Amino acid sequence: MHIAVVTLFPTMIEAVTGHGIVTRAVNNGLLRVEGVNPRDFTRDVHKTVDDRPFGGGPGMVMKIEPLRDATIAAREAVEKVTGKRPRVLYMSPQGPVLTQQRAQELAMEEGLVLIAGRYEGIDERFIEAYVDEELSIGDYVLSGGELAAMVVIDAVTRLLPGALGDADSAKQDSFSGEFEGLLDCPHYTRPENFEGRGVPPVLMSGNHAAIRRWRLMQALGRTWQRRPDLFAQRSAKGLAKNEQQLLDEYIGGLDAKRSEP
Ligand SMILES: C[S@@+](CC[C@H](N)C(=O)[O-])C[C@H]1O[C@@H](n2cnc3c(N)ncnc32)[C@H](O)[C@@H]1O
Repeated sequence: MHIAVVTLFPTMIEAVTGHGIVTRAVNNGLLRVEGVNPRDFTRDVHKTVDDRPFGGGPGMVMKIEPLRDATIAAREAVEKVTGKRPRVLYMSPQGPVLTQQRAQELAMEEGLVLIAGRYEGIDERFIEAYVDEELSIGDYVLSGGELAAMVVIDAVTRLLPGALGDADSAKQDSFSGEFEGLLDCPHYTRPENFEGRGVPPVLMSGNHAAIRRWRLMQALGRTWQRRPDLFAQRSAKGLAKNEQQLLDEYIGGLDAKRSEP
């Protein structure tokens, strides 16, 4: 996958490729990330990339021509490698919020162009003419789209075939694989006793079917308890009979704990 990020701060983007799984994906040739700076496409001596908003008001708006030229260059750079015109995504608090499902869809693309805005944002006409979709990383406002682009790059990279050391890890994450639409189950590692707290005995049993059952019960229970919104979406699709039984068991366990003296 080839991702070009249109940004006034390309060194920020380099940070995401400098660590962990993303670095490995780059080193293994699964991913290439490059920054394209609109400042390099300015034509005035001051290399101006912002301008005052029409209609007045506080703040500045990103100038449209350097942004357009940088986006075209980014699109061409990706197309040269993939042979396909990439989707152009504008990182924006006004887009739909990134979900694991959207990350999975984006991971199927061979190339992407991500636009990181700055200042008060970018000229609406640029969005109309050059952006395929807007994408938010949450209902809050960042100073720039770089962190959002880095979030997309990280979430997408771990889904590229071969990016994770153990291909099953991603399947066990929240929202994925057998936990589709659910939060992940709790995890434990050594020591067996930490400040008087033990590990659920089933995890030490070596009984893989029982461990799978317990993990699914925790995933269902946690989602029911912590994210009623997600749980409602998941249960709207219909819970399997064994899932309903596991949830009832989880809730029964909570009730029993509550009534302990
Ligand atoms: C200060 S923000 C501009 C926000 C804009 N005035 C608004 O309220 O929609 C500057 C840039 O940060 C990025 N940004 C801010 N919040 C974001 C979010 N939640 N998700 C993705 N990008 C975001 C966008 O690229 C935006 O152009």
